[in-house]
Amino acid sequence: MDSRTQALCAFLDASHSVYHAQAYLSKTLEEKGYVRLFEQEEWSLLPGGKYYLTRGGSALLAFRVPRGEITGFTMSASHSDRPGFKVKENFELTSAYTRVAVERYGGMLIAPWLDRPLSIAGRVTVETENGVQTKLLDIDRDLLLIPNVAIHMNRQANDGYKWNPAVDVIPLAGGKDAAGKLPALLEREAGGRILGQDLYLYIRQKASVWGVDGEYISAAALDDLECAWGCTQGFLNAKESRAIPVLCVFDSEEVGSCSPQGAASGLLEAVLGRICDGLNLNLSRMLAQSFLVSADNAHAVHPNHPEYADPANAPVMGGGIVLKFNANLSYCTDALSAGIFRKICAKAGVKVQSFHNRADMPGGSTLGRISLAHVSVPTADIGLAQLAMHSCCETAAVSDEIDLETAMTVYYGSALEATRNGFSVT
Ligand code: CO
Repeated sequence: MDSRTQALCAFLDASHSVYHAQAYLSKTLEEKGYVRLFEQEEWSLLPGGKYYLTRGGSALLAFRVPRGEITGFTMSASHSDRPGFKVKENFELTSAYTRVAVERYGGMLIAPWLDRPLSIAGRVTVETENGVQTKLLDIDRDLLLIPNVAIHMNRQANDGYKWNPAVDVIPLAGGKDAAGKLPALLEREAGGRILGQDLYLYIRQKASVWGVDGEYISAAALDDLECAWGCTQGFLNAKESRAIPVLCVFDSEEVGSCSPQGAASGLLEAVLGRICDGLNLNLSRMLAQSFLVSADNAHAVHPNHPEYADPANAPVMGGGIVLKFNANLSYCTDALSAGIFRKICAKAGVKVQSFHNRADMPGGSTLGRISLAHVSVPTADIGLAQLAMHSCCETAAVSDEIDLETAMTVYYGSALEATRNGFSVT
């Protein structure tokens, strides 16, 4: 297996929650010499400096300061949250069995969650001598399972079934005697009384590379950890240019991005402002020469259901990076941003394919559009083609993620300069 794919799998296998994804990316940046900044402190930014910060335990933002003249920002935005089940506050349900009460986070496919080992990961707050502290938590063993009803009791199960989230998807934790043991286990792992919790279920299956030619990868949260990783690798590998490279990995995309750590927050705008203040740059002039790649996965044409795809704009897995278009701007790509992004991919030697929704099917939207409300720059909405979006186990092509790393390396190593009639890409 290609070492880049191995590194992607290691990231996927370590990212059991949005908080664990942030911790892994932070560690990756620190290993490359990035210095952590804190929003509440003063920053002194130096030419050649490499910095990152986090917000809310989940969002991550990194940037570098070029040594010479500075012309603009080359930015990317992706997200590290995923649809799934969140554990409720009073979660223990006892009857003949002990079960765990959960509610849905985001627009998920329910059926794939059943009959497979699950566990719990996320973060908790505990009280310490220094006040209320957050702590990562991961019960790293097979712990729970949501059992299906046998076909004998639900003869219509194969004819389409309407899932009731309050009844059908409550995970089983143990027998009657297990009552009280899971809260105690969580407190033990937390190292103290839990004051608050953001805990989610996750599947125990590791990332798997498969197919006749090993061309596919299946894992939890490929949407959008695959783009988060590809953008991070491109950001780290890029040579210095006259632009300030900025990497953003947001939380809360699957529920509309409205949180202090989502793309609808003022996080990116605030950081760009502080960078300009610290380096004595004019923010408006910088933004006029800036660009955003909004990277979030895209629907591949389905092997069994090609009819759901647009006949002429249907990306395939393994066909290269997907550029997404929508006339009503649920995707922000336009003639200018498409031209710039295609030029960058040509420079990188990476194929690009186009995506439109079928005209009679409403599609999703993504964080580019939301981020634009705060930081208004030309934006290309891109993604990697995948199947089974929002299943707990999604499928994509190995080669597409490598293409993204290659394209983002060229993108982050380029400077964009506004001309009177477009942009030059150097
Ligand atoms: Co997504």
